[in-house]
Amino acid sequence: MPTTLRSDTFVLGDRPVRRLGYGAMQLAGPGVFGPPRDHAGALAVLRAAIEAGINHIDTSDFYGPHVTNQLIREALSPYPDDLVIVTKVGARRGQDKSWHPAFSRDELIQAVHDNLRNLGRDVMEVVNLRVMFNTHGVAEGSIEEPLTVLAELQQRGLIRHIGLSNVTRTQVAEGRSICSIACVQNLYNLANRHDDALIDELAREDIAYVPYFPLGGFTPLQSTTLSEVAAQLDASPMQVAIAWLLQRSPNLLLIPGTSSVAHLKENLAAASLSIPADAMTALNGIASR
Ligand SMILES: NC(=O)c1ccc[n+]([C@@H]2O[C@H](COP(=O)([O-])OP(=O)(O)OC[C@H]3O[C@@H](n4cnc5c(N)ncnc54)[C@H](OP(=O)(O)O)[C@@H]3O)[C@@H](O)[C@H]2O)c1
Repeated sequence: MPTTLRSDTFVLGDRPVRRLGYGAMQLAGPGVFGPPRDHAGALAVLRAAIEAGINHIDTSDFYGPHVTNQLIREALSPYPDDLVIVTKVGARRGQDKSWHPAFSRDELIQAVHDNLRNLGRDVMEVVNLRVMFNTHGVAEGSIEEPLTVLAELQQRGLIRHIGLSNVTRTQVAEGRSICSIACVQNLYNLANRHDDALIDELAREDIAYVPYFPLGGFTPLQSTTLSEVAAQLDASPMQVAIAWLLQRSPNLLLIPGTSSVAHLKENLAAASLSIPADAMTALNGIASR
């Protein structure tokens, strides 16, 4: 694996964004459903992110549903000119907090309009098609029909750039034959590195790769090696996990999620953490590939 020099920004679609962004999913209530436990605290995290210079926020109207987008609008509108908000469509929520595919033409069009309305925007900068053939992992299957719907919405001026989420390499190739793909958002972190080859392919094409669950998601990363490296570097394990991703490849855009201003600040400080080669080697040994 190449150890790359880190650059502060990478172009997402056609706009440079800081490589350390923010994922807003954790702002909804328990199970990513309903209102947050601490409404004022959620607004404070979003405002602190912008104050710290973050200009890339990941969200979806199916977080809550609607809740996360409404919090973003309440906290940040009118939006800073340089802020890129990325959303995803393709899923809907059941009353029991469950996740279901929402891939029909009508559902996709409705989802884009729901995002625009709840965020208070006229056009979405980036919309990811979140593939739901398997809710919690990738599964093969053609994405032509739903992606063609998003491409039509792009033609109509409602979407500037299209991305893919929860996809295989085959689906990325199929997607790129249908429309320009600005980013791929898949599960990837220190311990889950099934997308190593895809990341390198996309880096060669200057396409952003956005790892979701960068810190392990609902089960935060835990590893003796990670803790040992963190202690050596006088950093926290989460900071090392972030710095490792930043060093992994220049096309990685990070969206670690948190509902805490203290954790947000800790995570942002990881941008200045440099992991020496021997520690990178040790960290590279953690993954099951
Ligand atoms: N495309 C998809 O299918 C998909 C799926 C999942 C997520 N996403 C996106 O990816 C983003 C990131 O994923 P995620 O938020 O689920 O997982 P994550 O970033 O891997 O981890 C978030 C968890 O880590 C904790 N955390 C954050 N910073 C910490 C720190 N410094 N120290 C200790 N704990 C810390 C958070 O708790 P606290 O709140 O207590 O800080 C939260 O429980 C989401 O926000 C969402 O936008 C996309």
